[in-house]
Amino acid sequence: MSVNKLFPTVGMVGGGQLSRMTSQAATALGMNFRVLVQSESDSASQVTNNYILGEHTNLDHLRALAQVSDVVTFDHEHVPEVLLRQLVQEGFNLQPSPDALVFAQDKVAMRKKLHQLGVAQPSFAVIETIEQAIDFGKEYGFPFVLKLSRGGYDGKGVWVCHSEKDIEATLGQNFSHTFQWLAEEFVAFSRELASQVARSPQGQMVTYPIVESRQVNGMCSMVIAPAPHLSDADAMSAQQLAMSIADSLNVTGMLAVELFESERGILVNELAMRPHNSGHWSIDGSTTSQFENHLRAVLDLPLGDPSPIARWSVMVNIIGGKYPDMYSAYKHCLARDPGLKVHLYGKEVRQGRKVGHVTVCSDELQDAIRRATHAADYFMGVIEE
Ligand SMILES: Nc1ncnc2c1ncn2[C@@H]1O[C@H](COP(=O)(O)OP(=O)(O)OP(=O)(O)O)[C@@H](O)[C@H]1O
Ligand SMILES: [Mg+2]
Repeated sequence: MSVNKLFPTVGMVGGGQLSRMTSQAATALGMNFRVLVQSESDSASQVTNNYILGEHTNLDHLRALAQVSDVVTFDHEHVPEVLLRQLVQEGFNLQPSPDALVFAQDKVAMRKKLHQLGVAQPSFAVIETIEQAIDFGKEYGFPFVLKLSRGGYDGKGVWVCHSEKDIEATLGQNFSHTFQWLAEEFVAFSRELASQVARSPQGQMVTYPIVESRQVNGMCSMVIAPAPHLSDADAMSAQQLAMSIADSLNVTGMLAVELFESERGILVNELAMRPHNSGHWSIDGSTTSQFENHLRAVLDLPLGDPSPIARWSVMVNIIGGKYPDMYSAYKHCLARDPGLKVHLYGKEVRQGRKVGHVTVCSDELQDAIRRATHAADYFMGVIEE
């Protein structure tokens, strides 16, 4: 594997689509980019031969990546904290640091920290027994939400409980002594928003426009940038909220703050310290994508302009559906809409799995929504014309 010795090497743990898209930004910047992947067929392994095969739960494998990297960063939250701390102790440069990352890895730690910081969020409690969960339901009412503190993604690890029976079923089937449980008040939100910032170790920050994100079954389905009908004052306060969280937690790289817009104002759902699905639109819709700014930030380089380059950008996820070979959809979608931007992740199509996304930039919001939805539906095999 040859590298440009005059340029730094960024190592990313994880070979998913976030790593694949970060690799594309690294290529443009001429950076060396190494990834720790679980298999040769991972999404990121397909676009670089600079990968190390290994597990993110194995210290030797993580160290092998760190030894060939100037900075190590992450495409997911699942590296055990003890291993991260060991790498820091050995002198490796991790961005974000384990002290920051824990608040994206552990929902209980995140809730407690945000409470300390006085950030508005759903009422919550740490749950250790079925009885405590039942008491939470009595106090805050049904439905409420049970979450695994660690290890969840795309709505996995989140259960809405409508009754005591649901609590027993959820905790009975999934009770684990490895992770804590979190109970949260169910927020009857009007919609979900996300606020993204990039922050470098020296504290420079740039903020992306606040976006609206729509989930289906707990998984992101559509993102609209910027969020329609959001007042300038609310947009600015959501951006300031993300900047103050990034500063308080000393986050480096990209931070996504998932938000609920509710009658009680804007409440924080959760944090992610990496490029995030709510920022995929920025590849096509902004001057500097979240992937490029993540790289710049972890290398402590000056950050790029996050301004949108179109009035509206609409991103729709392609969730694995009917077509095993999505290439069969290309002719139709590309001919129908020359302005469509398609991003497929090279992942095997499985039901319910994120396998790609499309983005449409337009002066007209409804036009962008219609075109992006049509293309994603076609790729998923939901419609055939
Ligand atoms: N307290 C709540 N009240 C109402 N809905 C909720 C609540 N918590 C979560 N949800 C819904 O479930 C979705 C997934 O929850 P959350 O973001 O906590 O889980 P996750 O699986 O870690 O998500 P991600 O894919 O972002 O990592 C949210 O986007 C939201 O739609
Ligand atoms: Mg989430």
